[in-house]
Amino acid sequence: MPDADPSLHRAADLGQRPVRRALIVDPLSTGRELAPEFRRRGWQTTAAVSIPWIADAINREDFDEVLIDEPGSDLRGRVRALAPDAIVPGAEFGVLLAEELAAQQGLPVNIPLPDDPRRDKSAMLHRLRERGVRAMAGELVRTPEELERWLTAWGRYPVVVKPARSAGSDSVSICHDAPSAHAAFDAVAGQRNSLGVINDGALVEEYLSGQQYYTNSVSIDGLHRVHEVWRVDFTVADGRPLYDREVLLGSDDRHFQPLIDYTDEVLTALGVTDGAAHTEIRMQGEEPVLIESGARLAGASDMPAHRAATGTNPVELLVDRYADPAAFRARLHEPPLRRRHVSAVALQCPRPSTATVAGLDALHALPTAFGGPALELRAGARLRPTVDLYSVPGILYLVGADAASVDRDYAAVRRIEAEQLYRPMTESEQRRWALARRARWIRVRVVALPSWTARRVRSRIADRPSPT
Ligand SMILES: Nc1ncnc2c1ncn2[C@@H]1O[C@H](COP(=O)(O)OP(=O)(O)OP(=O)(O)O)[C@@H](O)[C@H]1O
Ligand SMILES: [Mg+2]
Repeated sequence: MPDADPSLHRAADLGQRPVRRALIVDPLSTGRELAPEFRRRGWQTTAAVSIPWIADAINREDFDEVLIDEPGSDLRGRVRALAPDAIVPGAEFGVLLAEELAAQQGLPVNIPLPDDPRRDKSAMLHRLRERGVRAMAGELVRTPEELERWLTAWGRYPVVVKPARSAGSDSVSICHDAPSAHAAFDAVAGQRNSLGVINDGALVEEYLSGQQYYTNSVSIDGLHRVHEVWRVDFTVADGRPLYDREVLLGSDDRHFQPLIDYTDEVLTALGVTDGAAHTEIRMQGEEPVLIESGARLAGASDMPAHRAATGTNPVELLVDRYADPAAFRARLHEPPLRRRHVSAVALQCPRPSTATVAGLDALHALPTAFGGPALELRAGARLRPTVDLYSVPGILYLVGADAASVDRDYAAVRRIEAEQLYRPMTESEQRRWALARRARWIRVRVVALPSWTARRVRSRIADRPSPT
């Protein structure tokens, strides 16, 4: 395999261990932490982005180079020349491209399967059924008639209607009757989703009413290490599930081991063999049932809080898997540890508001307040109403020696929100804010993007060999 990295040859000449290179695809959200961690281990880092705008959203200083997948960029050829030693997705956007590139390079990668069952929730359900793993009822429907047929055959409510390939709880609706299921279908089918893809129909599923959990895992050669199990509490507002809080589970919980065992079955069925996975599960009676599994790190996670609670963190474990596979393998069967109690509380802003000094001071003063974006909010920050994960004003990690101190502060967060954190915006403030957002949108879409595109077109024309 060709390699264009002169440092490999220099290191080999000097008899040193060659410098290794990680390629991180779409390093957003928690995936931003991957490059610094690889660098700490002496690796070089390159970013690849699957959509051009992502290049402007990543931390460029963490990378020696940023490659963009766009017409004419020959990303695959450049990756071939770069010959990275590991390729990992940094976020859901990058899962398919990372897997394609890793397969191209002959690097450890999940098993390629038709219909993308690690990305597409409809294919995910089919795959579990095919492999005899417990799965909920659900189907991709492309027309109102197909939806009606499914609803009649299923005959129960509520049901869930959502995009098959989106993220961030985008357009997920819990529907209590046929008209609301049809309205939810219309809001999904044929619309552009939060990952920028047009939804092909909509996924309709039975509603799993039990407690939700998720597991975080890292796999090596088809063996899975589940290193965290979390309980997830939701509230429902206007038929939409809203994140309330996540609580790290200890091994004393009766669902702890069944969740780990079920995750193992799910990951194997979905062809996950290498790298991180984030698996969302609900209980149906006493049985765990999959909501979805993402072949990547959990998003929006605070690494210091994970370390304080477990002694390690998901990013460190994932990098271990590539940088020191022998050490990772030796700890494969260690059960997930909980050294301290932790809750990740999602703030919920009820109406357009600004954050107040008193409310933020009160959050900072909570005895178990540990970190997370909620503590970075500034007084006066303008907040839109929380309707999904994207509109959560911030996540606050509470870390304490016992469950009672964390629970007490969780209740205090909700009290602070209700009493003082949000100052509702007046109508004229809302109008001014809407105008400012529109002006920003025009600057980005109408002014900045075209000039960026024009620059690229000009530079491509300049690069093109002259026809003579
Ligand atoms: N069939 C279902 N039964 C019960 N709840 C569901 C179902 N499908 C989705 N939900 C709820 O809606 C949430 C978001 O759905 P889902 O995970 O499928 O969408 P997503 O866009 O990937 O969101 P996120 O990024 O928040 O995980 C789930 O975590 C779960 O709480
Ligand atoms: Mg999900």
